[in-house]
Amino acid sequence: MRPPSLLERSLASVWHPCTQMKQHETLPLVPIVRGEGPWLIDADGRRLLDGISSWWVNLFGHCNPRINAALRAQLDTLEHVMLAGFTHEPVVRLSERLAALTGARLGHAFYASDGASATEIALKMSVHYWRNLGEPEKSRFVSLAGSYHGETVGALAVTDVAIFRDAYAPLVRAGATVPSPDARVSAPGESAADVARRAAAALEAHLTEHHAQTAALIVEPLVQGAAGMVMYDPEYLRLARALCDRYRVHLIADEIAVGCGRTGSFFACEQAGIWPDFLCLSKGISGGYLPLSLVLTTDAVFGAFYDDSAARAFLHSHSYTGNPLACRAALATLDIFEQDDVLAANRDRAQRLGELLGERFDGHAAVRHLRQRGMIAAFDVATDRPDFARSFFAAGLEHGVLLRPIGNTIYFMPPYVVDAPQLAQLADGAAAALAVALA
Ligand SMILES: Cc1ncc(COP(=O)(O)O)c(C=O)c1O
Repeated sequence: MRPPSLLERSLASVWHPCTQMKQHETLPLVPIVRGEGPWLIDADGRRLLDGISSWWVNLFGHCNPRINAALRAQLDTLEHVMLAGFTHEPVVRLSERLAALTGARLGHAFYASDGASATEIALKMSVHYWRNLGEPEKSRFVSLAGSYHGETVGALAVTDVAIFRDAYAPLVRAGATVPSPDARVSAPGESAADVARRAAAALEAHLTEHHAQTAALIVEPLVQGAAGMVMYDPEYLRLARALCDRYRVHLIADEIAVGCGRTGSFFACEQAGIWPDFLCLSKGISGGYLPLSLVLTTDAVFGAFYDDSAARAFLHSHSYTGNPLACRAALATLDIFEQDDVLAANRDRAQRLGELLGERFDGHAAVRHLRQRGMIAAFDVATDRPDFARSFFAAGLEHGVLLRPIGNTIYFMPPYVVDAPQLAQLADGAAAALAVALA
């Protein structure tokens, strides 16, 4: 009898994320054996161009020599130490550098591992802050329609995606949702900024009534990723910041997907000229190497916990909080940003991506709302084929590109190492896969 293949062993022993496992009866898993720059190489030697940065985490390519070297050096120095009662150079340097990137406005970094944990931390810190100030009734949250902030039970309270939330409704203390400033819903003659003002008016109506019970507004700045790369005007963030100030409500910026240069500035909030009270980072911050997340916050928040009383402290922890290897990968990532002037190089890359997509998809009969913000581009496809996303994904693999639509939205979020021919290959692969998926 032949031994089971890797795929058979995987299906028998690994419960894959975000997957109806039964679908793998007809859609094979892809066994990846190696990564190299923007390429993933499968067991048959097939090369796949990673057009979505492996779930939006990879910034500088797979097996990046500079990040690898930093990790090797760290491995021989210190792999891990608990962060309660102890500290180490990588976590201190990373915190200092991130604080500097905010102009010292967000000078206190609290660490965890996954994005959802960062969301949980920001929510808990906000509520605990108000409690420490003698306002425990401020314990509710508000988020945007279509918001996604992770899938742990606390994060689901501010995640408005039915398929992720409905089955767990009995566990979740759902927050309120207010309209998204989604630029696609503009009425004739209305600009994206007009839509933002309309959505902000709805937020104001909510806060007028509920501010006394509301701890925080949480947003994905500029792009609501899991909703299908919903893009909106920075005006919304400016108005939301002003409303949060007026109604004494925290603003939490979940930059887990949009931070680290993804939208064109290092932090997406910079494009609105505002700073949140809490800023969540994960995904790209470790270059896509290791689970690392963190929440940056202000002196005011930190100060509200600083006391002789343990009950006023933020008694939250994860075993791998501030892991030295992950922090070292993050430092190497920040080095590359500085040394290679990545934000400037990405402006050219993003422009080329926009041109290529425009050439292939502008005016396409099935394409709607072609849109872009920095290194994220997307369009919606008018089709009622229920298997569209799956069939596009499979056809993309056949054409050498890894693109994984969200519903009927096709999006591009490549690592910051793709060159012009690779961008063209991505656009061509998408055009070929679209033809197959619509046929
Ligand atoms: C905006 C946003 N917040 C939170 C998360 C959750 O991060 P993680 O999957 O690491 O828990 C994600 C993941 O896609 C995200 O896009």
